[in-house]
Amino acid sequence: MKRLLVIDCVMREGSRTRQLLDAFLIGVDRRIYEIETVKLSEIPLSPLMGVSYRERDELLAIHDMNHPRFDHAKQFRDADAIVIAAPYWDMSFPSLLKIYFENICVDGITFESTEKGLAGLSHADPLVFLTTRGGFTETGSEDDQATSYIKALSRLLGFRNPVTIGASGMDVWGYDWQKALKDACDKAHAFAASLK
Ligand SMILES: Cc1cc2nc3c(=O)[nH]c(=O)nc-3n(C[C@H](O)[C@H](O)[C@H](O)COP(=O)(O)O)c2cc1C
Repeated sequence: MKRLLVIDCVMREGSRTRQLLDAFLIGVDRRIYEIETVKLSEIPLSPLMGVSYRERDELLAIHDMNHPRFDHAKQFRDADAIVIAAPYWDMSFPSLLKIYFENICVDGITFESTEKGLAGLSHADPLVFLTTRGGFTETGSEDDQATSYIKALSRLLGFRNPVTIGASGMDVWGYDWQKALKDACDKAHAFAASLK
């Protein structure tokens, strides 16, 4: 079985991003993929600072990669496919997801330093980013700092094909956001169903 890792950064009850994630997951062939979910709001995550930062530096200095604080990084590195679901917040995504990324970007686990520069050690293909946006920001536009960040992170960690599926206009008065969301859900479902 292949492993599909779900990074769930849904932030509230009644979330539209949750609907998008659900549509994606319904499309996944469970004979091919077993699903592991990391619900970011339910795990102890803290930003790299103070004691936590020093501890990480000390462990990396002695190449002790067996410490449990690196478990999420290993899980991320070993996934065959990854789907990240997070709402569009402040032109990007919630800081909770950035803190998760801080914790899984570990030299020697998800990437390494080589004579040619930094090289990714992660191999998931595809990496899918699912999001919903209040306004009309388009996927890949300059205002979509979530997609540009995920693309840059993919270059660091080694993902070749990051894909964003988003629904925009969710909070625009008078706009048929339900249709926009359904169209995105259909796209997410079809994309998941195409995964081999
Ligand atoms: C803290 C916060 C920040 C937001 N920032 C933006 C933003 O910068 N641009 C935008 O178009 N919508 C913004 N929104 C609206 C959300 O993107 C929109 O409501 C989205 O559908 C929420 O996803 P959810 O239904 O999964 O919670 C923001 C909402 C919140 C709560």
